[in-house]
Amino acid sequence: MQGKSLFQRLREYAGSDNYPFHMPGHKRQMMGGEPELSGLFSVDITEIDGFDDLHHADGILKDYMEWAAECYGADESRYLVNGSSSGILSAVCGCVKQGGRILVGRNCHKSVYHGILLKGLRAVYVYPQVIGDLGIQGGILPEDVERCLDEFPDIQAVMIVSPTYDGMVSDIGKIAQIVHRHGIPLLVDEAHGAHFPFSEKGGFPVSALDKGADVVVQSLHKTLPSPTQTAIIHMKGKYLREEAREGIKRYLSIFQSSSPSYVFMAAIERCIRYMDGEGRERLGEFSRELDDFYGECRGLNNILVLGKGYEGKAGIYARDYSKIILHMGCGRRDGVWLGRYLRQRCHLELEMCMPWYALALASLWDSQEGLKRLCKGLYGADRVIDRMKEKKGEERRILDGKWVVPETAWTIGEVAEMETELCRAEECEGRVSADFIYVYPPGIPYVVLGEVLSKDIVSMVDVFRKSGLMVHGLKGKSGEFFKVVKSTG
Ligand SMILES: Cc1ncc(COP(=O)(O)O)c(C=O)c1O
Repeated sequence: MQGKSLFQRLREYAGSDNYPFHMPGHKRQMMGGEPELSGLFSVDITEIDGFDDLHHADGILKDYMEWAAECYGADESRYLVNGSSSGILSAVCGCVKQGGRILVGRNCHKSVYHGILLKGLRAVYVYPQVIGDLGIQGGILPEDVERCLDEFPDIQAVMIVSPTYDGMVSDIGKIAQIVHRHGIPLLVDEAHGAHFPFSEKGGFPVSALDKGADVVVQSLHKTLPSPTQTAIIHMKGKYLREEAREGIKRYLSIFQSSSPSYVFMAAIERCIRYMDGEGRERLGEFSRELDDFYGECRGLNNILVLGKGYEGKAGIYARDYSKIILHMGCGRRDGVWLGRYLRQRCHLELEMCMPWYALALASLWDSQEGLKRLCKGLYGADRVIDRMKEKKGEERRILDGKWVVPETAWTIGEVAEMETELCRAEECEGRVSADFIYVYPPGIPYVVLGEVLSKDIVSMVDVFRKSGLMVHGLKGKSGEFFKVVKSTG
Protein backbone atom coordinates (compact mmCIF):
# COMPACT_ATOMS: atom_id res chain seq x y z
CA MET A 1 0.00 0.00 0.00
CA GLN A 2 1.29 3.43 -0.92
CA GLY A 3 1.27 6.09 1.75
CA LYS A 4 1.96 6.14 5.42
CA SER A 5 1.58 3.12 7.61
CA LEU A 6 -0.52 3.37 10.74
CA PHE A 7 2.64 3.05 12.84
CA GLN A 8 4.22 5.98 11.00
CA ARG A 9 1.15 8.11 11.69
CA LEU A 10 1.14 7.08 15.35
CA ARG A 11 4.86 7.79 15.70
CA GLU A 12 4.47 11.22 14.11
CA TYR A 13 1.60 11.99 16.43
CA ALA A 14 3.64 10.84 19.44
CA GLY A 15 6.40 13.27 18.40
CA SER A 16 4.00 16.20 18.02
CA ASP A 17 3.15 18.71 20.75
CA ASN A 18 -0.52 17.66 20.84
CA TYR A 19 -1.48 17.39 24.49
CA PRO A 20 -3.95 14.56 25.31
CA PHE A 21 -6.99 15.64 27.38
CA HIS A 22 -8.54 12.28 26.52
CA MET A 23 -8.09 8.57 27.15
CA PRO A 24 -5.98 6.54 27.71
CA GLY A 25 -5.05 7.67 31.20
CA HIS A 26 -1.35 6.97 30.73
CA LYS A 27 -1.22 10.06 28.48
CA ARG A 28 1.19 8.28 26.14
CA GLN A 29 3.85 7.94 28.85
CA MET A 30 5.02 5.00 30.88
CA MET A 31 5.06 5.78 34.58
CA GLY A 32 8.09 4.28 36.27
CA GLY A 33 9.97 3.77 33.03
CA GLU A 34 9.65 0.10 32.03
CA PRO A 35 11.55 0.37 28.73
CA GLU A 36 9.61 -2.47 27.03
CA LEU A 37 6.33 -0.66 27.61
CA SER A 38 7.26 2.95 27.10
CA GLY A 39 7.48 2.62 23.31
CA LEU A 40 4.07 0.97 23.27
CA PHE A 41 2.51 3.65 25.45
CA SER A 42 3.80 6.44 23.22
CA VAL A 43 1.73 5.16 20.25
CA ASP A 44 -1.30 3.95 22.22
CA ILE A 45 -4.08 6.41 21.43
CA THR A 46 -7.85 6.45 21.18
CA GLU A 47 -10.19 7.55 18.35
CA ILE A 48 -8.90 11.11 18.06
CA ASP A 49 -9.35 13.38 15.06
CA GLY A 50 -7.71 11.96 11.94
CA PHE A 51 -7.37 8.41 13.25
CA ASP A 52 -10.83 7.09 12.32
CA ASP A 53 -12.91 4.61 14.39
CA LEU A 54 -12.81 0.86 13.81
CA HIS A 55 -16.52 0.49 14.54
CA HIS A 56 -17.55 3.20 12.06
CA ALA A 57 -14.56 3.24 9.74
CA ASP A 58 -14.67 5.88 7.03
CA GLY A 59 -11.14 7.28 7.09
CA ILE A 60 -7.69 5.76 7.35
CA LEU A 61 -8.87 2.51 8.95
CA LYS A 62 -11.37 2.01 6.12
CA ASP A 63 -8.54 2.54 3.62
CA TYR A 64 -6.26 0.09 5.43
CA MET A 65 -8.96 -2.56 5.61
CA GLU A 66 -9.83 -2.11 1.91
CA TRP A 67 -6.17 -2.52 1.08
CA ALA A 68 -6.06 -5.67 3.25
CA ALA A 69 -9.11 -7.09 1.43
CA GLU A 70 -7.31 -6.52 -1.87
CA CYS A 71 -4.18 -8.32 -0.60
CA TYR A 72 -6.26 -11.33 0.41
CA GLY A 73 -8.65 -11.28 -2.57
CA ALA A 74 -11.65 -10.78 -0.28
CA ASP A 75 -14.68 -8.55 -0.90
CA GLU A 76 -14.24 -7.17 2.59
CA SER A 77 -11.77 -7.73 5.43
CA ARG A 78 -12.07 -6.45 8.99
CA TYR A 79 -9.31 -6.15 11.58
CA LEU A 80 -10.01 -8.07 14.78
CA VAL A 81 -8.50 -6.86 18.04
CA ASN A 82 -10.22 -9.51 20.18
CA GLY A 83 -8.78 -12.55 18.44
CA SER A 84 -10.39 -15.00 16.05
CA SER A 85 -12.84 -15.73 18.85
CA SER A 86 -14.63 -12.42 18.16
CA GLY A 87 -14.67 -13.10 14.40
CA ILE A 88 -16.02 -16.62 14.83
CA LEU A 89 -18.71 -15.51 17.26
CA SER A 90 -19.74 -12.78 14.81
CA ALA A 91 -19.75 -15.15 11.83
CA VAL A 92 -21.96 -17.69 13.62
CA CYS A 93 -24.31 -15.08 15.10
CA GLY A 94 -24.45 -13.01 11.91
CA CYS A 95 -25.21 -15.85 9.49
CA VAL A 96 -27.83 -17.84 11.39
CA LYS A 97 -31.12 -16.47 12.69
CA GLN A 98 -32.11 -16.80 16.35
CA GLY A 99 -33.00 -20.44 17.05
CA GLY A 100 -31.98 -21.49 13.53
CA ARG A 101 -30.04 -24.57 12.50
CA ILE A 102 -26.30 -24.67 11.80
CA LEU A 103 -24.04 -27.50 10.65
CA VAL A 104 -20.86 -27.53 12.69
CA GLY A 105 -17.66 -29.55 12.61
CA ARG A 106 -17.70 -31.17 16.04
CA ASN A 107 -13.97 -30.41 16.42
CA CYS A 108 -14.60 -26.64 16.34
CA HIS A 109 -13.16 -24.25 18.90
CA LYS A 110 -15.27 -23.28 21.90
CA SER A 111 -16.06 -19.86 20.39
CA VAL A 112 -18.33 -21.62 17.85
CA TYR A 113 -20.28 -23.23 20.70
CA HIS A 114 -20.47 -19.91 22.48
CA GLY A 115 -22.14 -18.43 19.38
CA ILE A 116 -24.55 -21.36 19.31
CA LEU A 117 -25.38 -20.75 22.97
CA LEU A 118 -25.90 -17.01 22.57
CA LYS A 119 -28.32 -17.35 19.64
CA GLY A 120 -30.06 -20.47 20.90
CA LEU A 121 -29.11 -22.34 17.72
CA ARG A 122 -29.82 -25.97 16.95
CA ALA A 123 -26.53 -27.58 15.97
CA VAL A 124 -26.08 -30.58 13.72
CA TYR A 125 -22.59 -32.03 14.04
CA VAL A 126 -20.32 -33.45 11.41
CA TYR A 127 -17.42 -35.39 12.87
CA PRO A 128 -13.85 -35.35 11.60
CA GLN A 129 -12.23 -38.58 10.48
CA VAL A 130 -9.51 -40.05 12.67
CA ILE A 131 -6.18 -41.48 11.49
CA GLY A 132 -7.05 -44.95 12.68
CA ASP A 133 -3.83 -46.27 14.14
CA LEU A 134 -2.72 -42.93 15.60
CA GLY A 135 -5.89 -41.44 17.05
CA ILE A 136 -5.13 -38.05 15.46
CA GLN A 137 -8.11 -36.22 14.00
CA GLY A 138 -8.07 -35.76 10.24
CA GLY A 139 -10.43 -33.73 8.05
CA ILE A 140 -14.16 -33.46 7.47
CA LEU A 141 -15.41 -35.50 4.51
CA PRO A 142 -17.39 -33.57 1.87
CA GLU A 143 -19.85 -36.47 1.62
CA ASP A 144 -20.59 -36.19 5.35
CA VAL A 145 -21.40 -32.50 4.89
CA GLU A 146 -23.66 -33.35 1.97
CA ARG A 147 -25.49 -36.07 3.91
CA CYS A 148 -26.23 -33.65 6.79
CA LEU A 149 -27.41 -30.90 4.44
CA ASP A 150 -29.73 -33.32 2.67
CA GLU A 151 -31.09 -34.56 5.97
CA PHE A 152 -31.67 -31.06 7.43
CA PRO A 153 -32.72 -28.71 4.60
CA ASP A 154 -33.27 -25.84 7.07
CA ILE A 155 -29.53 -25.52 7.87
CA GLN A 156 -28.62 -21.85 7.39
CA ALA A 157 -24.79 -22.01 7.41
CA VAL A 158 -21.93 -24.50 7.72
CA MET A 159 -19.00 -23.85 10.06
CA ILE A 160 -15.85 -25.97 10.01
CA VAL A 161 -12.31 -25.65 11.26
CA SER A 162 -9.54 -26.07 8.70
CA PRO A 163 -6.67 -26.40 9.40
CA THR A 164 -7.30 -28.12 12.68
CA TYR A 165 -5.11 -27.36 15.65
CA ASP A 166 -2.88 -30.18 14.37
CA GLY A 167 -2.67 -28.72 10.85
CA MET A 168 -5.14 -31.01 9.04
CA VAL A 169 -6.86 -29.32 6.11
CA SER A 170 -10.19 -30.51 4.72
CA ASP A 171 -11.21 -30.42 1.07
CA ILE A 172 -12.67 -26.92 1.29
CA GLY A 173 -13.11 -26.65 -2.49
CA LYS A 174 -15.48 -29.62 -2.60
CA ILE A 175 -17.20 -28.73 0.64
CA ALA A 176 -17.83 -25.16 -0.62
CA GLN A 177 -19.41 -26.51 -3.83
CA ILE A 178 -21.76 -28.73 -1.83
CA VAL A 179 -22.66 -25.97 0.64
CA HIS A 180 -23.28 -23.51 -2.20
CA ARG A 181 -25.52 -25.99 -4.01
CA HIS A 182 -27.74 -25.64 -0.94
CA GLY A 183 -27.60 -21.85 -1.31
CA ILE A 184 -25.94 -21.16 2.05
CA PRO A 185 -22.53 -19.85 3.15
CA LEU A 186 -19.49 -21.81 4.28
CA LEU A 187 -17.72 -20.30 7.30
CA VAL A 188 -14.17 -21.50 7.92
CA ASP A 189 -12.17 -21.12 11.09
CA GLU A 190 -8.69 -20.76 9.61
CA ALA A 191 -7.30 -19.41 12.87
CA HIS A 192 -4.21 -21.61 12.54
CA GLY A 193 -3.70 -20.98 8.82
CA ALA A 194 -3.09 -17.22 8.63
CA HIS A 195 0.13 -17.94 6.69
CA PHE A 196 -1.64 -19.90 3.92
CA PRO A 197 -2.52 -16.88 1.74
CA PHE A 198 1.16 -15.94 1.43
CA SER A 199 2.65 -19.35 0.89
CA GLU A 200 2.83 -19.96 -2.84
CA LYS A 201 6.62 -20.35 -2.41
CA GLY A 202 6.29 -22.34 0.76
CA GLY A 203 4.26 -25.39 -0.11
CA PHE A 204 1.69 -24.68 2.60
CA PRO A 205 -1.97 -25.39 1.86
CA VAL A 206 -4.12 -22.95 -0.12
CA SER A 207 -6.28 -20.67 2.00
CA ALA A 208 -9.99 -21.49 2.35
CA LEU A 209 -10.71 -18.03 0.93
CA ASP A 210 -9.21 -19.12 -2.41
CA LYS A 211 -11.08 -22.41 -2.28
CA GLY A 212 -14.56 -20.94 -2.18
CA ALA A 213 -15.30 -20.29 1.51
CA ASP A 214 -17.52 -17.28 2.16
CA VAL A 215 -16.28 -16.22 5.59
CA VAL A 216 -12.74 -16.97 6.75
CA VAL A 217 -11.30 -16.06 10.14
CA GLN A 218 -7.55 -16.08 10.75
CA SER A 219 -5.54 -15.44 13.92
CA LEU A 220 -2.54 -13.43 12.77
CA HIS A 221 -1.00 -13.93 16.18
CA LYS A 222 -0.93 -17.73 15.96
CA THR A 223 1.37 -18.25 12.99
CA LEU A 224 2.53 -14.81 11.86
CA PRO A 225 4.63 -12.06 13.42
CA SER A 226 1.79 -10.19 15.10
CA PRO A 227 0.88 -9.72 18.78
CA THR A 228 -1.52 -11.90 20.72
CA GLN A 229 -5.20 -11.02 20.12
CA THR A 230 -4.68 -9.78 16.55
CA ALA A 231 -6.74 -11.48 13.87
CA ILE A 232 -8.71 -10.79 10.70
CA ILE A 233 -12.05 -11.79 9.18
CA HIS A 234 -12.68 -11.96 5.43
CA MET A 235 -16.00 -12.01 3.57
CA LYS A 236 -16.38 -13.02 -0.04
CA GLY A 237 -18.86 -14.16 -2.64
CA LYS A 238 -22.55 -14.14 -3.38
CA TYR A 239 -23.58 -16.91 -1.01
CA LEU A 240 -22.98 -14.52 1.85
CA ARG A 241 -26.08 -12.41 1.47
CA GLU A 242 -26.18 -8.73 2.33
CA GLU A 243 -28.20 -9.45 5.46
CA ALA A 244 -25.54 -11.89 6.71
CA ARG A 245 -22.69 -9.46 5.94
CA GLU A 246 -24.44 -6.72 7.83
CA GLY A 247 -25.19 -9.19 10.62
CA ILE A 248 -21.51 -10.11 10.93
CA LYS A 249 -20.53 -6.44 11.13
CA ARG A 250 -23.18 -5.72 13.72
CA TYR A 251 -21.92 -8.57 15.88
CA LEU A 252 -18.30 -7.47 15.41
CA SER A 253 -19.21 -4.22 17.08
CA ILE A 254 -20.93 -6.13 19.87
CA PHE A 255 -18.17 -8.66 20.55
CA GLN A 256 -15.19 -6.34 20.10
CA SER A 257 -14.03 -3.75 22.55
CA SER A 258 -15.42 -0.25 22.04
CA SER A 259 -11.83 0.92 22.61
CA PRO A 260 -9.91 -1.12 20.02
CA SER A 261 -6.17 -0.88 20.49
CA TYR A 262 -4.34 1.21 17.89
CA VAL A 263 -1.19 -0.69 18.76
CA PHE A 264 -2.91 -3.91 17.70
CA MET A 265 -4.37 -2.36 14.56
CA ALA A 266 -1.00 -0.93 13.55
CA ALA A 267 0.59 -4.32 14.19
CA ILE A 268 -2.04 -6.05 12.01
CA GLU A 269 -1.28 -3.68 9.17
CA ARG A 270 2.47 -4.10 9.67
CA CYS A 271 2.11 -7.88 9.64
CA ILE A 272 0.11 -7.91 6.39
CA ARG A 273 2.59 -5.54 4.73
CA TYR A 274 5.46 -7.81 5.73
CA MET A 275 3.71 -11.00 4.64
CA ASP A 276 2.69 -9.49 1.32
CA GLY A 277 6.37 -8.72 0.64
CA GLU A 278 9.40 -10.29 2.29
CA GLY A 279 7.22 -12.72 4.24
CA ARG A 280 6.46 -14.71 1.07
CA GLU A 281 10.18 -15.41 0.58
CA ARG A 282 10.66 -16.20 4.23
CA LEU A 283 7.81 -18.74 4.14
CA GLY A 284 9.63 -20.48 1.28
CA GLU A 285 12.86 -20.69 3.29
CA PHE A 286 10.96 -21.79 6.38
CA SER A 287 9.33 -24.62 4.46
CA ARG A 288 12.78 -25.90 3.41
CA GLU A 289 14.03 -25.65 7.00
CA LEU A 290 11.02 -27.70 8.08
CA ASP A 291 11.85 -30.36 5.46
CA ASP A 292 15.36 -30.61 6.94
CA PHE A 293 13.91 -30.92 10.43
CA TYR A 294 11.57 -33.75 9.42
CA GLY A 295 14.48 -35.48 7.66
CA GLU A 296 16.69 -35.23 10.74
CA CYS A 297 13.99 -36.73 12.96
CA ARG A 298 13.71 -39.89 10.88
CA GLY A 299 16.08 -41.82 13.14
CA LEU A 300 13.89 -41.60 16.26
CA ASN A 301 12.85 -45.02 17.57
CA ASN A 302 9.96 -44.24 19.88
CA ILE A 303 8.58 -40.84 19.00
CA LEU A 304 6.87 -40.62 15.64
CA VAL A 305 7.28 -37.17 14.09
CA LEU A 306 4.32 -37.35 11.74
CA GLY A 307 5.83 -36.79 8.30
CA LYS A 308 4.39 -36.82 4.80
CA GLY A 309 2.06 -39.46 3.47
CA TYR A 310 -1.26 -38.83 5.20
CA GLU A 311 -2.82 -36.66 2.50
CA GLY A 312 -5.77 -38.44 0.94
CA LYS A 313 -6.42 -40.45 4.11
CA ALA A 314 -8.83 -39.74 6.97
CA GLY A 315 -10.41 -36.76 5.20
CA ILE A 316 -7.03 -34.99 5.01
CA TYR A 317 -6.82 -32.97 1.83
CA ALA A 318 -3.58 -31.19 2.75
CA ARG A 319 -1.38 -30.69 5.79
CA ASP A 320 0.39 -27.79 7.39
CA TYR A 321 3.76 -29.21 8.41
CA SER A 322 4.57 -26.29 10.67
CA LYS A 323 2.37 -28.08 13.23
CA ILE A 324 4.82 -30.74 14.33
CA ILE A 325 2.96 -33.76 15.66
CA LEU A 326 5.00 -35.86 18.09
CA HIS A 327 3.16 -39.15 18.46
CA MET A 328 3.96 -41.30 21.49
CA GLY A 329 2.71 -44.58 20.09
CA CYS A 330 5.36 -46.63 21.87
CA GLY A 331 3.25 -46.64 25.02
CA ARG A 332 6.13 -46.27 27.46
CA ARG A 333 5.90 -42.54 28.01
CA ASP A 334 3.14 -40.15 27.04
CA GLY A 335 2.93 -36.69 25.50
CA VAL A 336 2.64 -34.99 28.89
CA TRP A 337 5.90 -36.67 29.94
CA LEU A 338 7.55 -35.53 26.70
CA GLY A 339 6.44 -31.94 27.33
CA ARG A 340 7.86 -32.08 30.84
CA TYR A 341 11.13 -33.65 29.67
CA LEU A 342 11.66 -31.01 26.97
CA ARG A 343 10.77 -28.18 29.36
CA GLN A 344 12.95 -29.32 32.24
CA ARG A 345 15.95 -30.74 30.37
CA CYS A 346 16.07 -28.65 27.22
CA HIS A 347 14.11 -25.50 28.09
CA LEU A 348 11.77 -26.06 25.19
CA GLU A 349 8.08 -25.33 25.70
CA LEU A 350 5.59 -27.21 23.51
CA GLU A 351 2.26 -25.87 22.34
CA MET A 352 0.16 -28.76 23.61
CA CYS A 353 0.69 -32.08 25.35
CA MET A 354 -1.93 -34.82 25.37
CA PRO A 355 -1.59 -38.40 26.55
CA TRP A 356 -1.00 -39.88 23.10
CA TYR A 357 0.79 -37.04 21.35
CA ALA A 358 2.28 -33.62 21.76
CA LEU A 359 2.36 -30.68 19.40
CA ALA A 360 5.23 -28.32 18.65
CA LEU A 361 4.20 -25.24 16.77
CA ALA A 362 6.76 -23.73 14.41
CA SER A 363 6.40 -20.52 12.44
CA LEU A 364 8.30 -18.59 9.80
CA TRP A 365 9.84 -16.65 12.66
CA ASP A 366 11.54 -19.76 14.07
CA SER A 367 15.28 -19.95 13.82
CA GLN A 368 17.11 -22.96 12.43
CA GLU A 369 18.81 -23.14 15.81
CA GLY A 370 15.40 -23.52 17.50
CA LEU A 371 14.43 -26.42 15.24
CA LYS A 372 17.83 -28.04 15.82
CA ARG A 373 17.38 -27.75 19.58
CA LEU A 374 13.98 -29.42 19.27
CA CYS A 375 15.46 -32.23 17.20
CA LYS A 376 18.27 -32.75 19.74
CA GLY A 377 15.77 -32.71 22.61
CA LEU A 378 13.63 -35.34 20.88
CA TYR A 379 16.65 -37.62 20.43
CA GLY A 380 17.43 -37.17 24.14
CA ALA A 381 13.87 -38.16 25.10
CA ASP A 382 14.00 -41.04 22.65
CA ARG A 383 17.12 -42.44 24.33
CA VAL A 384 15.44 -42.25 27.74
CA ILE A 385 12.54 -44.29 26.34
CA ASP A 386 15.02 -46.75 24.76
CA ARG A 387 16.50 -47.37 28.20
CA MET A 388 13.02 -47.97 29.61
CA LYS A 389 12.40 -50.62 27.00
CA GLU A 390 15.18 -52.68 28.55
CA LYS A 391 13.13 -52.88 31.73
CA LYS A 392 10.34 -55.40 31.47
CA GLY A 393 6.72 -54.60 32.25
CA GLU A 394 6.93 -50.88 31.48
CA GLU A 395 4.61 -50.93 28.50
CA ARG A 396 1.13 -49.49 29.00
CA ARG A 397 -1.72 -48.57 26.76
CA ILE A 398 -2.08 -44.91 26.01
CA LEU A 399 -5.49 -43.42 25.34
CA ASP A 400 -5.79 -43.38 21.58
CA GLY A 401 -7.72 -40.17 21.06
CA LYS A 402 -10.67 -41.72 19.23
CA TRP A 403 -13.64 -39.44 19.44
CA VAL A 404 -16.31 -40.78 21.76
CA VAL A 405 -19.49 -39.62 20.03
CA PRO A 406 -21.92 -38.50 22.72
CA GLU A 407 -25.68 -38.65 22.43
CA THR A 408 -27.44 -35.25 22.50
CA ALA A 409 -30.41 -34.88 24.88
CA TRP A 410 -31.05 -31.12 24.65
CA THR A 411 -29.69 -28.16 22.71
CA ILE A 412 -26.97 -26.01 24.23
CA GLY A 413 -29.38 -23.08 24.62
CA GLU A 414 -32.03 -25.21 26.34
CA VAL A 415 -29.56 -26.50 28.93
CA ALA A 416 -28.21 -22.99 29.56
CA GLU A 417 -31.63 -22.14 31.04
CA MET A 418 -32.09 -25.31 33.12
CA GLU A 419 -31.45 -25.95 36.78
CA THR A 420 -28.20 -27.78 37.40
CA GLU A 421 -26.47 -29.72 40.16
CA LEU A 422 -23.07 -31.27 40.81
CA CYS A 423 -22.63 -35.00 40.44
CA ARG A 424 -19.63 -37.15 41.43
CA ALA A 425 -17.76 -38.52 38.42
CA GLU A 426 -18.42 -42.14 39.38
CA GLU A 427 -22.18 -41.50 39.60
CA CYS A 428 -22.82 -39.42 36.52
CA GLU A 429 -23.15 -42.03 33.81
CA GLY A 430 -26.33 -41.26 31.84
CA ARG A 431 -26.66 -37.73 33.24
CA VAL A 432 -26.79 -34.72 30.91
CA SER A 433 -23.83 -32.34 31.00
CA ALA A 434 -24.62 -28.74 31.88
CA ASP A 435 -21.16 -27.44 30.96
CA PHE A 436 -18.53 -27.56 28.25
CA ILE A 437 -15.74 -29.98 29.12
CA TYR A 438 -12.48 -29.34 27.36
CA VAL A 439 -8.74 -29.26 27.72
CA TYR A 440 -7.09 -25.94 26.83
CA PRO A 441 -5.25 -25.89 24.57
CA PRO A 442 -6.82 -26.84 22.18
CA GLY A 443 -10.18 -25.65 23.59
CA ILE A 444 -12.28 -28.15 21.60
CA PRO A 445 -15.12 -29.35 23.83
CA TYR A 446 -15.19 -33.12 24.35
CA VAL A 447 -18.61 -32.65 25.86
CA VAL A 448 -21.00 -29.79 25.22
CA LEU A 449 -24.06 -28.74 27.19
CA GLY A 450 -26.92 -31.13 26.55
CA GLU A 451 -24.77 -34.18 25.77
CA VAL A 452 -25.18 -37.39 27.73
CA LEU A 453 -22.21 -38.44 29.88
CA SER A 454 -21.51 -42.02 28.90
CA LYS A 455 -19.12 -44.35 30.74
CA ASP A 456 -16.54 -43.92 27.93
CA ILE A 457 -16.67 -40.14 28.17
CA VAL A 458 -16.30 -40.12 31.93
CA SER A 459 -13.31 -42.47 31.77
CA MET A 460 -11.70 -40.42 28.97
CA VAL A 461 -12.01 -37.27 31.08
CA ASP A 462 -10.52 -39.22 33.99
CA VAL A 463 -7.47 -40.16 31.90
CA PHE A 464 -6.97 -36.49 30.99
CA ARG A 465 -7.22 -35.50 34.64
CA LYS A 466 -4.82 -38.18 35.81
CA SER A 467 -2.32 -37.17 33.11
CA GLY A 468 -2.09 -33.82 34.89
CA LEU A 469 -3.98 -31.88 32.20
CA MET A 470 -6.18 -28.99 33.23
CA VAL A 471 -9.70 -30.13 32.32
CA HIS A 472 -12.06 -27.16 32.20
CA GLY A 473 -15.72 -27.57 33.08
CA LEU A 474 -15.20 -29.97 35.99
CA LYS A 475 -15.98 -28.79 39.50
CA GLY A 476 -14.54 -29.47 42.93
CA LYS A 477 -10.96 -29.12 44.19
CA SER A 478 -9.60 -31.92 42.04
CA GLY A 479 -12.28 -31.93 39.38
CA GLU A 480 -14.22 -34.78 40.98
CA PHE A 481 -17.65 -33.35 40.04
CA PHE A 482 -19.48 -32.84 36.76
CA LYS A 483 -22.10 -30.12 36.44
CA VAL A 484 -25.25 -31.83 35.18
CA VAL A 485 -28.88 -30.99 34.51
CA LYS A 486 -30.82 -31.32 37.78
CA SER A 487 -32.61 -34.61 38.12
CA THR A 488 -36.39 -34.27 38.34
CA GLY A 489 -36.89 -37.72 39.87
C1 LIG B 1 -9.08 -23.71 16.11
C2 LIG B 1 -9.14 -22.41 16.85
N1 LIG B 1 -10.03 -21.48 16.44
C3 LIG B 1 -10.14 -20.30 17.08
C4 LIG B 1 -9.35 -19.99 18.16
C5 LIG B 1 -9.52 -18.67 18.84
O1 LIG B 1 -8.49 -17.83 18.43
P1 LIG B 1 -8.07 -16.50 19.22
O2 LIG B 1 -7.17 -16.95 20.32
O3 LIG B 1 -7.35 -15.69 18.18
O4 LIG B 1 -9.29 -15.85 19.71
C6 LIG B 1 -8.42 -20.93 18.61
C7 LIG B 1 -7.60 -20.63 19.79
O5 LIG B 1 -6.87 -21.39 20.31
C8 LIG B 1 -8.31 -22.17 17.95
O6 LIG B 1 -7.45 -23.10 18.34
